[in-house]
Amino acid sequence: MPIPVEKIRQDFEVLRNRIIYFDNACMSLKPKRVVEKINEYYNEYPACAGRSSHRLGKKIEHEIIAARKKIADFFNAKKPEEIIFTRNTTESINLIANSFGLKKGDAVLISRKEHNSNLVPWIFLKNKTGIKLKTFEFGDIGDFERQLTKDVRLVSCVQTSNVDGTTQDIREMAKIAHKKGAKILVDAAQSAPHREVDVRKLDVDFMACSGHKMLGPTGIGILYGKMHELEKLSPFITGGDTVKNTTYNSVEMEDIPARFEAGLQNYSGIVGFGAAVDYLRKIGLKNIERHEYELNKIITEGLKGKVDLIGPEDPSKRGGIFSFNIRGIEPHEIAGILDHSAGIMVRSGMHCVHSWFNANKIKGSARASLYLYNTEDEARRFVQEVSKIARMAK
Ligand SMILES: Cc1ncc(COP(=O)(O)O)c(C=O)c1O
Repeated sequence: MPIPVEKIRQDFEVLRNRIIYFDNACMSLKPKRVVEKINEYYNEYPACAGRSSHRLGKKIEHEIIAARKKIADFFNAKKPEEIIFTRNTTESINLIANSFGLKKGDAVLISRKEHNSNLVPWIFLKNKTGIKLKTFEFGDIGDFERQLTKDVRLVSCVQTSNVDGTTQDIREMAKIAHKKGAKILVDAAQSAPHREVDVRKLDVDFMACSGHKMLGPTGIGILYGKMHELEKLSPFITGGDTVKNTTYNSVEMEDIPARFEAGLQNYSGIVGFGAAVDYLRKIGLKNIERHEYELNKIITEGLKGKVDLIGPEDPSKRGGIFSFNIRGIEPHEIAGILDHSAGIMVRSGMHCVHSWFNANKIKGSARASLYLYNTEDEARRFVQEVSKIARMAK
């Protein structure tokens, strides 16, 4: 079903400013309902959940329970307790890196197109403990299988790449990993906002994503884990709210998820994230995915032969991402011209995937990334403006 874009746009205050926002892979805009929900927390029940037994404390406690359930349902987790609130994808991956119990001799397998968030924690762990860090070619199941040697205890890989929008077959990879006795953590930062991520269908052990890329507030993300896998983790950040009782030299840990949520939480972020998944659900992930494809088709056809595209030509393989270069002009310059001449906002640079750009000897790219509130007119305007830059650069 086509989505009611004009109606959707009314929900996003910032779009009144006549901007063309194509930087959604970095951060999405927030609908009024999410902003209102955040304000509702501060205006009506700005208290602490799970500790204070007065009415404001009880109200936010119920709101957190409701948001956790909504988010669990959104990803089809078995139980709400399988959702742990973190600050973002990065913190969720760090939680696993520090809690999974990897030791010298164990190996972690990542793809060669990972965001720094899913590379740097493993390099640090390797330097600290002597684990091995192995890599496979993104999207190449044969290579994945070859690199998945007996010593690999954990596969940690991205589902949809933020470099070019391509997606790996996580379901198949999880099957192979499990057959070989490894667990799998998926970085769903770029997939969760744009396509259905059903953790049970994918059969992943862990999944990380960020609220701010999926219409939610900044500073809130989740780690999903199968309950029996979460039970094996040792907590990463400890302190208040993670324990049932303490003496001067012993602790009795809280149940899951509280065990992993140390200190006062980002309550406004959590309730805002709940409102964001409600919004996405109402529009439908399948509808959003199709909409982005239609726009990407206009851009891809319009710019064919005019720019150097990163990734496959077929836009159905790149979701809502169009990452490109124009010979003779730097990506940051392209982004600057687009903003100043037409109010078009794109990201430029290496998109925190320096390792892939360095390995491929590419200096970076300009990246347009689409979402549910972008229109066909905006896509056509982008084609016009980029075509002008390409002509100018010749
Ligand atoms: C694929 C991927 N993984 C991880 C991240 C990190 O997300 P965050 O900064 O919200 O932790 C991003 C952000 O752009 C990303 O695109």
